[in-house]
Amino acid sequence: MAKEKKKESEEFKLTDLPGIGATTASKLESGGYGDLMSIAVMTPKDLSAMADISETIARKAIAAARKMLRLDFEDATQYLKKRQEVLKITTGSQNLNNLLGGGIETRAITETFGAFGSGKSQIAHQIAINVQLPLEQGGANAKAVWIDTEGTFRPERIKQMAEAQGLDPEKTLKNIFVARAFNSDHQILLVDRVKDLIKRGEPIKLFIIDSMTAHFRAEFTGRGMLADRQQRINRHLHSLMRIAEANNVAIYMTNQVMANPAVMFGDPTTAIGGHIVGHASTYRIYLRRGRKGSRVAKMVDSPNLPEAECIFYLTEQGIRDEIK
Ligand SMILES: Nc1ncnc2c1ncn2[C@@H]1O[C@H](COP(=O)(O)OP(=O)(O)OP(=O)(O)O)[C@@H](O)[C@H]1O
Ligand SMILES: [Mg+2]
Repeated sequence: MAKEKKKESEEFKLTDLPGIGATTASKLESGGYGDLMSIAVMTPKDLSAMADISETIARKAIAAARKMLRLDFEDATQYLKKRQEVLKITTGSQNLNNLLGGGIETRAITETFGAFGSGKSQIAHQIAINVQLPLEQGGANAKAVWIDTEGTFRPERIKQMAEAQGLDPEKTLKNIFVARAFNSDHQILLVDRVKDLIKRGEPIKLFIIDSMTAHFRAEFTGRGMLADRQQRINRHLHSLMRIAEANNVAIYMTNQVMANPAVMFGDPTTAIGGHIVGHASTYRIYLRRGRKGSRVAKMVDSPNLPEAECIFYLTEQGIRDEIK
């Protein structure tokens, strides 16, 4: 059933919707609404404004999109089944796992944001290893894929952490696919390559983007470009969410922000929460330096978890509850 649904939604294009021609479709695409799912969850009023069509046509298009995606009711057993398929990848710190409700979840996007050195990339290294562990050890018995936008992936660090866990470092490295993204276009393009890897049958359960926002930030500067940047980020996030949903994959992305909380809340990536739809959950975690070399993680904006904080450490062995 899930497979069938995925296949169908991928086969349909915006222009398959009644009243949506090529011009309207490209208008929507450049607005970040390039897939049926994003249309299906819009209000007729919004779609009408966005695509410059009447509300009646918009209503029909939305209804058709919902039908094509079979976005009707599913009985609760189906829903439960989907939830049961969700895997939780251990971060190496029980405190951090608890904060996350068990670990980094598949079929969801987990975003860490914080200042430089707060631990965003270290967590990425740790979970790229841990996803490979068997299920009973907090893994997904699977591989990771990593889009590196700033050249901060460190294979040596993977080796060091893997050895500390008694794993074969070479084998561990082999199970991580890494690509360097040189600009935001390239970053977006690489998402398609990830889809190809999955289609080829690679058992990928973790998709890391470190950093999600750096290129966008560097390329789209100035007030006038903010809307443009936001649209492109939204579109990018949508395609990530689709991968997470369709393949039961965990997305982990990082986002550097200044230590100033005013900047943090003004950050356009807050739209993540606003745009992600369906039964997918999103976790945003704010990281900062704590006392005595610790790091503090704070859960912000979770659909089902309380706003809580925890402490963990970046140790030579990896992410841990304490320094040995
Ligand atoms: N081998 C190691 N042993 C112990 N601690 C380490 C090791 N490597 C890195 N760290 C810790 O990790 C910190 C860097 O964290 P990380 O690279 O995750 O930051 P970040 O949040 O990704 O920052 P940025 O925004 O600059 O990318 C270092 O300051 C150090 O405290
Ligand atoms: Mg980093």
